[in-house]
Amino acid sequence: MKIILLGPPGVGKGTQAVRLAARFGGAHLSTGDMLRAELKNSTPLGARAKEFMDAGELVPDDLIIDMMKARIVQPDCEKGFVLDGFPRTLAQAEALAEAGIAPDAVVDLDLDDDAIVARIAGRRVHPASGRVYHIQFSPPKQADVDDETGEPLVQRDDDREETVRARLEVYRKQTAPLAAHYQAQSGLPYHHIEASAPIDEVTESVINALGG
Ligand code: AP5
Repeated sequence: MKIILLGPPGVGKGTQAVRLAARFGGAHLSTGDMLRAELKNSTPLGARAKEFMDAGELVPDDLIIDMMKARIVQPDCEKGFVLDGFPRTLAQAEALAEAGIAPDAVVDLDLDDDAIVARIAGRRVHPASGRVYHIQFSPPKQADVDDETGEPLVQRDDDREETVRARLEVYRKQTAPLAAHYQAQSGLPYHHIEASAPIDEVTESVINALGG
């Protein structure tokens, strides 16, 4: 299945995308994880993306579209994929359509801003794998270390509160209009899911909505 996951920063897209990819098969494609890997590897793309990510702004469309066009044709996407953080602008959605890639469903996760800030403030990540924890809602077995490798967990650079507020504003202006864009596409299932429940309950709601 080809699924687009929409929703504001910190709503739980990455958390749910891992579970949906496991449930329905296919790849989990997170543009945020891909960009952070470029940064870590000191690539030219990483260097160009850094200033935008640090400011909580979107990385320019041409860079993102080129990156995704190269990724989405990889063999692990043949059985389907869950797009987490892409598309984020109308130009990105149009590029996807022009590449002949039609989603089977759109899932739009929603949550109020205060809950989002609380989720992001408590988020800890394992940089090498992208595994995501929350100090309260999804803690690691042992504080501050990754369950699988025992390596330290960190806070993302863009998870400072002022950057989070900037990311939320960018989301409302540039990404939220995608909901209407996809709702207007006849024959494309669009599911708006309130994501305030615990992680397992949100997963159940999404899987039920997708008929899985
Ligand atoms: P990206 O990494 O995509 O960040 P984001 O969209 O802001 O989303 P997040 O990763 O912050 O949150 P999430 O929704 O995945 O939530 P998570 O599952 O971690 O992008 C980063 C930057 O890269 C952007 O700002 C931009 O600069 C650039 N970028 C990326 N894509 C781009 C694009 N297409 N175009 C241009 N620029 C792009 O959950 C959050 C926390 O909550 C975790 O701790 C988790 O454990 C916890 N949690 C999750 N669900 C629940 C629940 N139900 N109950 C309680 N806690 C929960």
